[in-house]
Amino acid sequence: MRILGIETSCDETAAAVVEDGRTLLSSVVASQLSTHGKYGGVVPELASREHLRAIVPVVRLALEQAQTSLDSLAAVAVTEGPGLVGSLLVGITYAKALCFARRLPLIGVNHIEGHIHAVLLEAGDEVEFPALALVVSGGHTHLFEVRAGFSYRLLGKTRDDAAGEAYDKVAKLLGFGYPGGPILDRLAPHGDPSAVKFTLARMKGNALDFSFSGLKTAVLRWVEQHNLSDEIEARRKLQQPGLEEWLRATPRATLDLVASFQRTVIEELLRRAIVSIEEIGARSLIICGGVASNSGLRAAARNANLPCPVFFPSPALSTDNAAMIAAAAFPKLVGGASADLSLRAQANLTLA
Ligand code: KG4
Ligand code: ZN
Repeated sequence: MRILGIETSCDETAAAVVEDGRTLLSSVVASQLSTHGKYGGVVPELASREHLRAIVPVVRLALEQAQTSLDSLAAVAVTEGPGLVGSLLVGITYAKALCFARRLPLIGVNHIEGHIHAVLLEAGDEVEFPALALVVSGGHTHLFEVRAGFSYRLLGKTRDDAAGEAYDKVAKLLGFGYPGGPILDRLAPHGDPSAVKFTLARMKGNALDFSFSGLKTAVLRWVEQHNLSDEIEARRKLQQPGLEEWLRATPRATLDLVASFQRTVIEELLRRAIVSIEEIGARSLIICGGVASNSGLRAAARNANLPCPVFFPSPALSTDNAAMIAAAAFPKLVGGASADLSLRAQANLTLA
């Protein structure tokens, strides 16, 4: 059963064909980085327009690369939320039109569930349930218990910034480009992760909730105390720098700050993941979402002596893509759960 997946929840226009939820036949992602980069973040109105421009060629390319015609599809799956409503609407409207014209079943998929299925697409039966899913991206930092048959229970989530958002905001205030996560990840190994000790406020209430805004403020205070305005200005002026240029423009003390920031984020994530694994008796840990491509997080999770195996998606399936949407739709299709043309974009859709 071949499913065409379509994902347009934020700033990537993506389409993919996945067979039986497990075999990736194609995955095409058109990034809008060059559009939003100069604004230091995603501009929703521009994102919708870019999706409109990209959706037809991206879907066509995904079908071509999978050597699949519309006639041999079993269904079309599309992200219904959470995300930017204008962006979601482009994918949903396109998917509905395709399903109406070709009499195909339409399946709405929660973007967060998609991220979890990116791991199941690749690791398949190796993942045992109950599993703990740590979903870490630009919009989400959530811990879910994942039970067999794909039911979910929310254990904890961020009360303010998502982990990826914290990376992007810290990178922006230090004069690095957007998105900041990948840049800080590449710079972090060049600094001393124990150089700066951040004191984080204790969380009241659910101990499995996260908070990253205090860390962001602590970085801001450090920057103010160390008078970094000249070096930040110099970095902002760099034109499409590579790692070497970033390193030349970044003194050791700032690299230490970046490494310490990354260490703190990773510690916060893994500490709660370990407690949750024990709490639910998880037999697998799934770490997914854009921040799951962080090399420091991958290494720390692998070295953490966890009580269960840990699974990451490959880096290409960590950040937003449509293969994860097609994979998540497969058990729904098999279970007979298809949507009709009343499917709506839901900006704040939750998973549990
Ligand atoms: O999953 P994703 O593509 O989009 C959302 O659903 O939000 O995640 C994008 C986020 C951005 O905040 C980006 O900075 C972060 O993932 N990210 C990283 C890395 N690669 C992407 N953060 C830390 N280290 C990375 N290597
Ligand atoms: Zn995402």
